[in-house]
Amino acid sequence: MTIKLEKQTIGIFKELKKIKLDSVIASDFSKDLDIDYIVLMSAINDLKKNSLGDFREIEVNQVSLNKEGKSYLDKGLPERQLLNILLSNNNQEISLQDFLKISKFDKKIFYVGINYMKKNKWVAQSKVGEDIKIILIQEEFPKIEIEILLNKFKDNLKLNYKDLLPEEQKIIDTLNKRKLIKRENKIQREIALTDKGKKITLSQIKELQQVSKLSSEMIISGSWKDCNLKPFDISKPGPLMQRGKIHPMINLINEIREIFLSMGFTEIRGPIVESAFFNFDALFQPQDHPARELHDTFYLKNPKTARLPQNKVIQSIKNTHEYGGDSGSIGWRYKWDENIAKKTLLRTHTTATTIRRLAEYYKNNDKKPIKMFSIDRVFRNEKLDKSHLAEFTQIEGIVIDNNVNLSNLIGIITEFYRKMGFEKIITRPGFFPYTEPSMEISVYYDKLGKWLEMGGSGLFRPEVTYPWGIKNPTRVLAWGLGLERLAMLKFQRSDIRDLYINPIKWLREESYR
Ligand code: PHE
Repeated sequence: MTIKLEKQTIGIFKELKKIKLDSVIASDFSKDLDIDYIVLMSAINDLKKNSLGDFREIEVNQVSLNKEGKSYLDKGLPERQLLNILLSNNNQEISLQDFLKISKFDKKIFYVGINYMKKNKWVAQSKVGEDIKIILIQEEFPKIEIEILLNKFKDNLKLNYKDLLPEEQKIIDTLNKRKLIKRENKIQREIALTDKGKKITLSQIKELQQVSKLSSEMIISGSWKDCNLKPFDISKPGPLMQRGKIHPMINLINEIREIFLSMGFTEIRGPIVESAFFNFDALFQPQDHPARELHDTFYLKNPKTARLPQNKVIQSIKNTHEYGGDSGSIGWRYKWDENIAKKTLLRTHTTATTIRRLAEYYKNNDKKPIKMFSIDRVFRNEKLDKSHLAEFTQIEGIVIDNNVNLSNLIGIITEFYRKMGFEKIITRPGFFPYTEPSMEISVYYDKLGKWLEMGGSGLFRPEVTYPWGIKNPTRVLAWGLGLERLAMLKFQRSDIRDLYINPIKWLREESYR
């Protein structure tokens, strides 16, 4: 007769055979073998099915030290500690009050200690008038039985009450009265081999193949008969799947979009590949302006030149740069070069897109007020670090209306940041070649207790608006704010690169929206 058992069960069966005793306690055995308790018990069940092994449950009362008890295990019981104080000070006699003082004991524990010292007949107490004295009345102080028992807990955190000798049980009862121990009832399993299990030899046992899938070969050859099909546990949850979700940056952009839409703005977008004309010239930036230089702007080789708008506008921009045109300005006073304006580049700000909107306004001969925004990507040749990217996003907007002014501009921007959750904003004078007055905008971030710069804004100068026919009393409010700055605060990222490198841990932490 051969019996088929799983590999793990065979291993445990072998270990059980080595045991001299009739039975062992499962939890001890699993510790000795260094295998999981559940694994052990499932093997025992396996043996039980084959009538090779069995287990029975017994209720045991386990005793362990509580916190106070454990502290005495290290330091000694209060009576022993007090005794040691007397001995180390060579005190044969001491007043109770002095003793309390030098012992630095809690009063309650002190009296407990004194009581047990008396009980042990280590000391006697005498009263002379008002004065109570403690007098040592022994020469030697061997370990008392309670201390000897306490020591047993050094090797065994838990003792079985039933396994203790009657006199030990008595001491446990004393410890219990002194509130130094915990008692718990536990079910313990005793495992053993059956007579059949004891008799059978290892050669009569074969390993059972566990498979979770049947293959066509197994069916054809019939080898499936020797296999044990691993049952599926249909109550188990499937593997945890991380579902896809919208990137936090997209969520943030949508949130901003909602805010501007709710404030009556419409969204526009413009080309990433721009002409220097829209990116710089139309913004009254002189052609030798340092920002145009290669270290800031990515110029393109292909296509090398861009088409410019109608001649009339070109002429008027040229005039504005050279002598102010009809804007009332004296201009930059240099010779404006159309070829420089034709150069292609990756837009360095979305203000280029704003100007395209002005061009459309001009073409349609619009007279109506306009409120528009754009959240879009811009490029600058910056060295990448914790707070700089070469490719980032601006939150741009303009309002075209009669007699709009700086306080309208502050109002709109304040309202936007308030809706984003920033209560305090501050504006300071700034400079841009295309706005007058110009303002820098900072928000207050309470978590850091700091003001953080967010972007620029202002009223477009006549040099910018006149070529598009936008004249007094119509004015253009404009702003360009950083998206990534805001994102870093919102998502608590200290490295701007995280926003696009996508640390998976962060993305998982961000909530689904
Ligand atoms: N274009 C500016 C920038 O890139 C921001 C700005 C936009 C300033 C509109 C004033 C008006 O920083």
